[in-house]
Formats: sequence, structure tokens, C-alpha cells
Amino acid sequence: MKILGIETSCDETAAAVVEDGARILSNQIASQVEIHARYGGIVPEVASRQHILSIIPILKQAMAEAEAAWSDLAGIAVTIGPGLAGSLLVGVNVAKAIALAQGLPLIGVNHLEGHIYANWLAEHSIDFPVVCLIVSGGHSDLVLMRGHGDYVVLGRTRDDAAGEAFDKAARILGLGYPGGPAIEQAARAGTASIQLPRAWLKGSSDFSFSGVKTALLRLVEGGKVSSVADAAASFQQAVIDVLVAKTVAVAEERRVKQILLAGGVASNELLRNWLAEKSPLPVLVPEPILCTDNAAMIAACGYYCLQVGKIDGLDLDVVPSLKLA
Ligand code: KG4
Ligand code: ZN
Repeated sequence: MKILGIETSCDETAAAVVEDGARILSNQIASQVEIHARYGGIVPEVASRQHILSIIPILKQAMAEAEAAWSDLAGIAVTIGPGLAGSLLVGVNVAKAIALAQGLPLIGVNHLEGHIYANWLAEHSIDFPVVCLIVSGGHSDLVLMRGHGDYVVLGRTRDDAAGEAFDKAARILGLGYPGGPAIEQAARAGTASIQLPRAWLKGSSDFSFSGVKTALLRLVEGGKVSSVADAAASFQQAVIDVLVAKTVAVAEERRVKQILLAGGVASNELLRNWLAEKSPLPVLVPEPILCTDNAAMIAACGYYCLQVGKIDGLDLDVVPSLKLA
């Protein structure tokens, strides 16, 4: 069963065709990163205009790469939120137009749920219950997943999301945008030798990353950072220490079978390795290209929605602040 996925929630225009929720037949992504880098961050108005320019060519490429005709598809899955309203609207309206013209089922997908389903785009088998750590530009959520579509959010960030913290730290260190890959790259030449605080929030599974960011800012403003590489490595380690410790603690407490990692920050090599090393449970992580925003994850999630008849009408709308559970 082939599903076309469409993703335009932020700054990637993406389309993909996935078979049976697992096999990627095509995965096209047009990144706007170079355009937004000029401004040091995403400019929503620029993002939505760029989606309008890219969406049709990207769709055509995804269908061609998959060697798929409209009649081969079982449905169209599209991100409805969370994300930037103007960006989401482009994907949702294109998906509606195709669904109407081709008489195909339309499936509105939660972007965060999509990130989780990137874990299904691999050979390994997933045994419920699992704990999933979703770390992206807008979210740091610890989620108990008891079955398909069954989520309990156990913890979330109280201030900055992990990716947002990376982006802000990179700006403080003059490393540019996007911050996560820039910090990771700079950290390779340094050691985590600078003391930075970790917000453990004892007794809670929530996260907080504004303190470590402010501590870094104070050090830089005070002229106390002689090595940007050491500062990047220390910041990265401080964020990852907390992410890993809390994820492992929750997974053990809930007696789950596996830990899943998801979201853009999950492409960070130290996070992937550190979690695998510290966890007594199997850790599953999507390929890095499937951790950052893509449409294959949306198609995979759409497949499982379709299995239980979760289909939307043509009145489907965007929900910029959509929650997971
Ligand atoms: O999931 P994603 O692509 O988009 C959102 O849904 O937000 O995540 C983007 C976030 C950005 O904040 C980016 O800096 C961060 O993920 N990120 C990373 C890495 N690659 C992307 N953070 C740390 N290390 C990375 N290698
Ligand atoms: Zn995302």
C-alpha cells in the first residue's frame, strides 16, 4: 500500500512515497536553510513563499523517483501541525487539491507523531510499549507509546526546546545557523572542559535548557571563553547528559521494551552514541536524514492512521499549535 507524504511545517519542502509504512520508494527534500541563514533564523513569510515555489517540483520528483502514478496511491498524508501556519497551509492545500482531483483518502498528520514514525522506516522491529524522546527545534518531549497512535506525554521542556537551545548557543558562540550541526561540528575540535549547569528538576521528567544557555552567555560576555570548540563541546555535553539520563530513568520506571529517538536533534552523533551506551534497553534511532524534517516519516505515520480508518475530509485545516496527546 503506497502513501504519498507531504511536509511543509517549517523550512523544508518535502514529498515522499512510502510503501506499507516502512519501505521508502522516494524521499525528496528541498531545504531552505541557505535562504534563512542570511537572517540568522527562519523568517516565516519567506518560508511560506519558498514552499509555494518548491512544492510542485518536489511532488513531481517524489512521484517520478517512486515510479508511481496517482492510481497507485492508497492515500495522501500531510502535516497539519505543529508548525508555522503559512507554511503548513501550502502543504495542506496541495494535499487537498490532489485528494479531490484523484479521489484519494486525505490523512492529516501530527508532525511530532511523524517524527516518531521515522523509526518505522527501518529493518528493526518495534515492540510496544516504548519510550520515545522527541527532540526538535520546537519540542523536547518524553512520550510513552503503548501502541500505534497511543501516546502519554510524560515530560516536556519548560522553556527552550533542545534544538532551540542548540540554535541559541550557536548564535552566542558566533557559529551561525542552523545551530545544532554547527555546535556538533565545532565540538569535534574541543573537549567538554567548561563547567556548565544541568537542570535535573528532581522528581520530574520535564526538561529546562534556558539555564545552561544563559550560563554560556554569561561566560562569553565575561570574556571567559578562550576556545569556542571547548565551549561548544561543553554545551553539547550538558544538554545531552540531561536528555539521556532522564530518558533512561523514565524508560526503566515504565518498564518499556525499547527506547526510540526522534526529531532533528536525534541526528546528533554524541546523543545517539551516549544514549545507546547508557541505556540498558535497546535504543532505536532513525538514519540522520530521517531525523530532521522529511515527508517519508509523514507517509509512514499516515499508513498507520489509514489502517484504523483515521481519514479526514476536505475541510481539513492546519493546527499550528497541535499537541501530541
Ligand atoms: O525536527 P527538525 O528538523 O525540525 C523541527 O521540527 O523543529 O529539528 C530542527 C532542530 C534545529 O533546532 C537544529 O539545530 C537541530 O534540530 N539539529 C541538531 C542537529 N541537527 C539538527 N541539533 C544538534 N545536533 C545536530 N546534529
Ligand atoms: Zn520536525
